[in-house]
Amino acid sequence: MPPAIRTQGLTRLYRKAPRRGVPAQEFRAVDGVDLEIQPGELFGLLGPNGAGKTTLIKILCTLLFPTSGTAEVCGLDVVKDCERVRERINMVSGGEPSGYGLLTIREQLWVFSQLYGLSTAEAMSRIDRMLDQYGLAKDAGTKINRLSTGMRQKMNLIRGFMTAPSVLFLDEPTLGLDAHIARQTRDFIRAWMAEDRTRALLLTTHYLAEAHELCDRVAIIHQGRIRACDTPENLVAAHRGDAVFEITLSGLDGQSEALRRDPDMKVSRLDADPAAGHTTVRFSLADDAALPGALSRMAALGGRIVNLSKHEVTLEDVFVKIAGQTIADAEKSSE
Ligand SMILES: Nc1ncnc2c1ncn2[C@@H]1O[C@H](COP(=O)(O)OP(=O)(O)O)[C@@H](O)[C@H]1O
Ligand SMILES: [Mg+2]
Repeated sequence: MPPAIRTQGLTRLYRKAPRRGVPAQEFRAVDGVDLEIQPGELFGLLGPNGAGKTTLIKILCTLLFPTSGTAEVCGLDVVKDCERVRERINMVSGGEPSGYGLLTIREQLWVFSQLYGLSTAEAMSRIDRMLDQYGLAKDAGTKINRLSTGMRQKMNLIRGFMTAPSVLFLDEPTLGLDAHIARQTRDFIRAWMAEDRTRALLLTTHYLAEAHELCDRVAIIHQGRIRACDTPENLVAAHRGDAVFEITLSGLDGQSEALRRDPDMKVSRLDADPAAGHTTVRFSLADDAALPGALSRMAALGGRIVNLSKHEVTLEDVFVKIAGQTIADAEKSSE
């Protein structure tokens, strides 16, 4: 069996519109990506907003041409063989709208099944089974223009799963969902993968904890490039020697941003709560011995310790090590 997905040197340029005296310029949204995903893999593409995840997915789904490099899905070239690629894939993105307002959930799913050539009997049996499995059966007769965000997202996801694609692409499948529905969604994804070991699923997310829980392997993408690719366990294990701490300080009085400039601390999260007069910062150090120095620099800024705890390394900390900035900061700088 060929790889489910294979890319070599995949690159996509966009033209940035001119603004405020800066002339139009080209930039690489996807920059030389080499990726190989096997049948049976649940693969996560992780990165902040603006990293190039959607652009990469759109190329693999034949919705966008690459500028250079190659991409194959099920051994078929996405440019030269796009018709045959389309027969084997499906794609759902998290934020997409729902469809035709006057149809019910069940009718809308049936309409889409017809675009894929399923018989009505087969389509209805798959649709009803999935509505039931995903906790949407009681809403099957609800009209599209009356759906909550959660119902709409579940319906859109079923639309992707019901055609039993060889490779399914989910772009931010849990975007904006509350914790309960996000959990149901992860369970549904896992169950679908377990039904057939030759399926592959590529999802994107900027929720690192979700990727850790769900994915067999992940690639960390930042500014269009793959910075690391491995199982979540291995990525975390490679940094297990790091000492990760969370500290809450009082008395910093607007100085909390100075913590980011500390020579030893790699800050992965910084939450200032001016009302409480507290700052909580999560950071990693090369080893425990660097802690006293960091604490004395915090004291020099006026910080007094309210709480200090040591933690296991997470993917979030790994991202900071690799990208040199937190997910939140990377998102700010790409705006
Ligand atoms: N059609 C487009 N034209 C120009 N720039 C784009 C276009 N689509 C996306 N971009 C830019 O390309 C970069 C990557 O975007 P995208 O692939 O959507 O990232 P992600 O899905 O990781 O948030 C961003 O800087 C974005 O603003
Ligand atoms: Mg995106």
